[in-house]
Amino acid sequence: MTRRRVVQVDLAERSYPIVLGHETLDEVGARIARCTGSSQAALVSVPPVNRRYGARVARSLRDAGLRVHRFEIPDGDAAKTLRQVAKLYDGFLERGLDRSSVVVALGGGMVGDLAGFAAATFLRGIQLVQVPTTLLAMVDAGVGGKVGVNLKQGKNLVGAFHQPRLVWIDVAVLRSLPRRLRAAGLAEVVKAGAIWDAAFFAELEGAGEKLLDVDPKLLVPILERACQIKAEVVSADEREAGVRMLLNFGHTLAHAVEALRRYRSILHGEAVAIGMVFAARRSEELGLAPAGTADRLQALLERLELPTRVPRFERRAYLRALAVDKKKRDAHVRFVVLRELGRAETRPLLPAEILPPARGRQGAGRGRR
Ligand SMILES: NC(=O)c1ccc[n+]([C@@H]2O[C@H](COP(=O)([O-])OP(=O)(O)OC[C@H]3O[C@@H](n4cnc5c(N)ncnc54)[C@H](O)[C@@H]3O)[C@@H](O)[C@H]2O)c1
Ligand SMILES: [Zn+2]
Repeated sequence: MTRRRVVQVDLAERSYPIVLGHETLDEVGARIARCTGSSQAALVSVPPVNRRYGARVARSLRDAGLRVHRFEIPDGDAAKTLRQVAKLYDGFLERGLDRSSVVVALGGGMVGDLAGFAAATFLRGIQLVQVPTTLLAMVDAGVGGKVGVNLKQGKNLVGAFHQPRLVWIDVAVLRSLPRRLRAAGLAEVVKAGAIWDAAFFAELEGAGEKLLDVDPKLLVPILERACQIKAEVVSADEREAGVRMLLNFGHTLAHAVEALRRYRSILHGEAVAIGMVFAARRSEELGLAPAGTADRLQALLERLELPTRVPRFERRAYLRALAVDKKKRDAHVRFVVLRELGRAETRPLLPAEILPPARGRQGAGRGRR
């Protein structure tokens, strides 16, 4: 048994705790009862997660005196739609949920976003508790309060900010998460170290591939620090506009890679790994980061079984994908560069500066030089 750890997310009256531990699902109900004062909970999940952990969370809620209504939505990002949200509203009304009820999102980022959006909008907003079950959701989707759904025109086009009352992280659930998804989540952990905390980055290098095993003694403090960093960045942004942009490190190219791959056969975290190594190399080439920065980052990501080579598509296709505002071809993109491992900043760059014409390399693809 590892000691329980708590990260306080500081947002004035909307502050909330992230509680991390191992084998703690049986205790979540008591904490939810205390944090929310609710007498009814809507427990929302997807089949692969519900099957494994739904009953335990429901029992824990009932033991704490709440009435539990269980809702299952189809798995996969294709179901992160307004239609599924509307179905939840119907169910919430049918079961008599009211303004004092709480939505408990049990699952990965998809469930957190969808159930969170339902909570943000039902009766103009009811309480939300996140119980993330993927590594990505633990360190990324669960902190920051962004919730939303996809439209057929694009991902995450509709959404809201809705802070949870509590984020409950039980790392034991990661044992059933496929290894490839664990690795993808670790990409965002590496990102946190790379932009914000050199000592943490070095700690990740010390652990290396051991991070892929679910060893709570190792993983709980690592996830705690990753959550702390996202919480620091998110709350710093209320005072210091733009710091939050640093969380986009690796994401400019990642989004282009994901779009060019049509969101198939590549996970978000994998695209981020590729994008981070690319951005670190550009930082070196622009004379902003010392030589060796990108190699160190790439070595760590490779030990975590993550891809680091930019997939080969024509430069033209990349430039089109990089231009966020398609109507303004010459618009600058706020590109996140590294000054060193542990310190990042943004630079306004044109797509053509982010991806300069090939010098002796083919297409946009580049590997280790
Ligand atoms: N709100 C934010 O700030 C934010 C940040 C990053 C990503 N996101 C969103 O999160 C989503 C991606 O999240 P994700 O990577 O967690 O994907 P996901 O929620 O789709 O989960 C991936 C797969 O893992 C399964 N799964 C989840 N937990 C499991 C467990 N413990 N054991 C076995 N299987 C399990 C799921 O059923 C699913 O099939 C996207 O919709 C993305 O837009 C949101
Ligand atoms: Zn991301």
